[in-house]
Amino acid sequence: MAFTVAVDGPAAAGKGTISRALAKHFGFAHLDTGLLYRAVGAKGGDPIAAATSLAPRDLERDDLRTLEAGRAASKVAVIPEVRTALIAFQRNFAGRDGGAILDGRDIGTVICPDANLKLYVTASAEIRAHRRWLEVGGNKADVLAEVIARDERDTNRTEAPLKPAQDAVILDTTEWSIDDAIEQAATLVTLRLER
Ligand code: CDP
Repeated sequence: MAFTVAVDGPAAAGKGTISRALAKHFGFAHLDTGLLYRAVGAKGGDPIAAATSLAPRDLERDDLRTLEAGRAASKVAVIPEVRTALIAFQRNFAGRDGGAILDGRDIGTVICPDANLKLYVTASAEIRAHRRWLEVGGNKADVLAEVIARDERDTNRTEAPLKPAQDAVILDTTEWSIDDAIEQAATLVTLRLER
C-alpha cells in the first residue's frame, strides 16, 4: 500500500535529517529531491538537457553537498522545463508500495498534493545558517548570506515557489533539538498511519 509523507521547507531547516530518521523508523523509502536539482546544476551545460538525461550515477557525485552546488541547484530550479523533467521520477517514487518520504520545496504543493501527511520544517535563518556552517565550515557570515539568498530565490520564483501547503503541519525547529523534531514528526506519522 502507498503511504506518502511530504516534507518541505527552506535550506538547512533539518528536512533531510528528519526524513532519514522517519524513513528508518517506519521502513519507508526516502528521496532527497534536492539532490536531483543539485545534480542538474553540477552537470553544467544546458540545464534542461541535463534534467531530461539525468541518470542514477549523476546522483553519486561526491561534490553535491557543497554550498556552491546548493547555489547552482537553486538557479536551475527556477527553470520550468527543468522542474517538469523531474516530476515523473518523483511521483513514481512517491507511489511505491510500503511507504515513501520525499523532502524538498514543492512536495506537498506540486509533486504530491494528495500526500497522507505534509510537514513544513522551518527555523530562523540564523539557526539554519549555524547548522549549515557546522556541516560545511568556512566563513559563518558567508554561510548566512548564502542561506538568505537561497531563501529569496526559492520563495520568489514563479514556478513551484517555496511555501507551506495549506494542509501542512508546520514544525518550527528554531528552539528544538533535532531529536525533539524527529519525535514530533514521528508522532504525526503514527497518528496518520492509524487513521
Ligand atoms: O539541503 P538544503 O535544504 O540546503 O537544499 P536542497 O534540499 O538540497 O535543495 C537545493 C536547492 O534545490 C534548493 O535551494 C531549491 O532551489 C532546489 N529544490 C527545489 O527547487 N525543489 C525541490 N523539491 C528540492 C530542491
